[in-house]
Amino acid sequence: MFIGIDLGTSSIKTILIDENQKTISSHTEKIKLLNPSEGFYEQDPKSWFNATIKCFNKIRLEKPKQFSAVKSLGISGQMHGATLIDKNNTILHPCILWNDTRAMNQCYFMEKKLKSLRKESGNIAMPGFTAPKILWVKENKPKIFKKIFKVLLPKDYLRFRLSQAYYTDMSDASGTLWLNVKKRKWSEKLLNLTDLSEDNMPSLVEGTDSTSIVEKKISNKIGFNNQVIIAGGAGDQAAGAIGSGVIYPNQSVISLGTSGVYFSPTNKFIPNTTQAVHSFCHCLPNVWHHMSVMLSATNCLDWICRIFQLDIDSAILKAQKYFKDNNINTNFVQTTPFFFPYLTGERTPYNNPNLRGSLHSLNPSTKIDEIIYSVIEGITFGIKDGFESVHNVSPKNGKIYLVGGGSKSDFWCNLLSSSLNSEILLGKDADLGPAFGAARLAMLASKNYNIKDVVKSMPIKKKYKPIQKLHNLLLLRYKLWKEISINNESISNNMVLK
Ligand code: XUL
Repeated sequence: MFIGIDLGTSSIKTILIDENQKTISSHTEKIKLLNPSEGFYEQDPKSWFNATIKCFNKIRLEKPKQFSAVKSLGISGQMHGATLIDKNNTILHPCILWNDTRAMNQCYFMEKKLKSLRKESGNIAMPGFTAPKILWVKENKPKIFKKIFKVLLPKDYLRFRLSQAYYTDMSDASGTLWLNVKKRKWSEKLLNLTDLSEDNMPSLVEGTDSTSIVEKKISNKIGFNNQVIIAGGAGDQAAGAIGSGVIYPNQSVISLGTSGVYFSPTNKFIPNTTQAVHSFCHCLPNVWHHMSVMLSATNCLDWICRIFQLDIDSAILKAQKYFKDNNINTNFVQTTPFFFPYLTGERTPYNNPNLRGSLHSLNPSTKIDEIIYSVIEGITFGIKDGFESVHNVSPKNGKIYLVGGGSKSDFWCNLLSSSLNSEILLGKDADLGPAFGAARLAMLASKNYNIKDVVKSMPIKKKYKPIQKLHNLLLLRYKLWKEISINNESISNNMVLK
């Protein structure tokens, strides 16, 4: 038996699988997201541990025999968060999360001070990454900065609470901006930029390595019979890719969830800092990946649904009806509104935390249905922006899988496929996501299995083929959307909150 934990932004999901990767039980516990001021997103690290123990207890109550037989566990988690602890392992500050945008000035400083930053890290300095956040702490809360003993990523803090050991894996470490992604080593140059050293970092392992063992006290309390090994684990996107079986360069996966991600493995390090593409290590040895990240994807739809007091399904139906009734009209391209999904700034392709969302081309007869259509289309175009940015340096070929909440709508899958002009594959286990990937890493860390046998591609439930006529139409819309988007971007810095 193996456990996979995914420490998400709104909840912790835990699944128990058997040797055949069949899900025996799963449980999800909500966790609180703090938003103390505009652009600031934080979480109490203790809440992650408490929610995990609640998940364990629920699963043990449901499947006591199987739970007690667990051999190893893997943890996946929201990336980039800075959990600061002192010498006594006391938390010094709420964790500053991946979607927090307070550290843009620190990014400018880092790039200016170390001209080789992009070469060294393979990435652009982005405020979501961990290192600029620590510089923000240094400048704004110097007393806290002085006490820092270790900086741990969210899933690695959870590992620490379970085992008292400090480790991280290469995929998650890539998002700190302290890793030399090519060499898979902490970079002294990058650490120096933030007045930290390797001593402040956890030890580096591959996602498939075994790290520590769940502490006896905790093990007895939650009811494990064995000495449970903790796998290196992975950042949530890499773990999701493992869950979907995406590990080779001829495969990619789109995650259409709260954030929107396009993830594409590479078998060597190929930096691509154009248009804020991320070049990170995958969680398997000798595999890297490119990734585009849009900060707000399905949460734009949640937002419009809240405004119009609609549930998601009826909102999608309205958009679908509008599209079906109107896409043949000659005026569709010009008269349908445009939506820009930058509610909390954007990473790929702009790396601009000051961008905000907007609706364009409204007229006196604009109706709810077309506004909702434009929101869904705007999110889709955001994914297309990421897809095009990644493929600036790599050919468009191979299989593209789709996971995440947005994949539940046939209409949306078709729109995405025609926008990208690519076939989209919807997997059977698309819902299992990063927790399943983490459980697969737990299997590999137990050393009884090999990668090829464990990391199989998802069985396909449905295929969506692009429709040429729709592609041509959506391309006309995308070109206008892009033009407005670029202009929007150029004025965003004049609109920053002082
Ligand atoms: C990846 C990223 C998000 C977070 C939260 O770079 O920022 O995927 O990990 O899901």
